[in-house]
Amino acid sequence: MKPRHFLSLFDLTPAELHHVLRRASELKARYRRGERYAPFPQKVLGMIFEKASTRTRVSFEAGMAQLGGSAIFLSPRDTQLGRGEPIEDTSRVLSSMVDLVMIRTFEHAKLERFAACSSAPVINGLTDYNHPCQLLADLQTFIEHRSDIRGRTVAWIGDGNNMCNSYLEAACQFDFQLRIAAPPGYEPDTGLLNRAAGRVKLLRDPLAAAENADLVTTDVWLSMGREEEQLQRQRAFVGYQVNTTVMAQAKPDAIFLHCLPAHRGEEVSAEVIDGPQSQVWDEAENRLHVQKALMEFLLPGGNEKP
Ligand code: CP
Ligand code: NVA
Repeated sequence: MKPRHFLSLFDLTPAELHHVLRRASELKARYRRGERYAPFPQKVLGMIFEKASTRTRVSFEAGMAQLGGSAIFLSPRDTQLGRGEPIEDTSRVLSSMVDLVMIRTFEHAKLERFAACSSAPVINGLTDYNHPCQLLADLQTFIEHRSDIRGRTVAWIGDGNNMCNSYLEAACQFDFQLRIAAPPGYEPDTGLLNRAAGRVKLLRDPLAAAENADLVTTDVWLSMGREEEQLQRQRAFVGYQVNTTVMAQAKPDAIFLHCLPAHRGEEVSAEVIDGPQSQVWDEAENRLHVQKALMEFLLPGGNEKP
């Protein structure tokens, strides 16, 4: 039987996504009570990182250890991947030895090629195209604070990058309105914009995007792999900072989220990210809980599916 993968939010149905989020909050409560829940002894997660990471690495590795299994960190520097072994060959071999694979890489197509040859479920830990695990954590955080996201308004301010693309996927799967304020030339993926038609508005003005929003969110101006574009991006994104003026347009109880790492003084002011509307620490912690729920969902013999 072909394994289920999690390469985008479209790989799970809305009911399955809601199940994972509910389960994440349950696992979080149990973890906080100090209960041991280790249903996967001897299960192994392989983690390929072709880009840097703090949250993704630690949340997957700690999460798998807490579930009773273990994780292996693999980087191109010290595997044959870095010496040109085809991704398809790596996939066949790795998936014959581990139970789950998580990959963070550049081209989304590389992740898809790996998944096509993998006999184990594959999880997207970020590509240049999207970052669905982060969206699971963002949605868990919003729902824990405001109970439901359906019909709400989310404002995305800044680069139409991998995070913005995943917000488009989320708008479709969780049925909310997304307003994107991006400078010309930095819009998100056209295919996803079309798929989210009816649920998305593409604007230029951050203040208009934030008006009456329930959630305001942003991300760095310079994603990993774009380092050589630093100067032109610094110029293009002037005026695309989430600050108190932008937050004042949103609903008074609006939440601010940021996937982190953040650059205070660029895409977000210190006042906002360190202020009372910011839930970024909960958001980061929820990576642990929601990915445990996701791994449980994907592993054979995991928790009952909806
Ligand atoms: N948000 C996120 O994915 O963080 P890392 O790059 O630290 O994994
Ligand atoms: N857009 C950022 C997200 C980091 C978690 C990047 O790709 O670098």
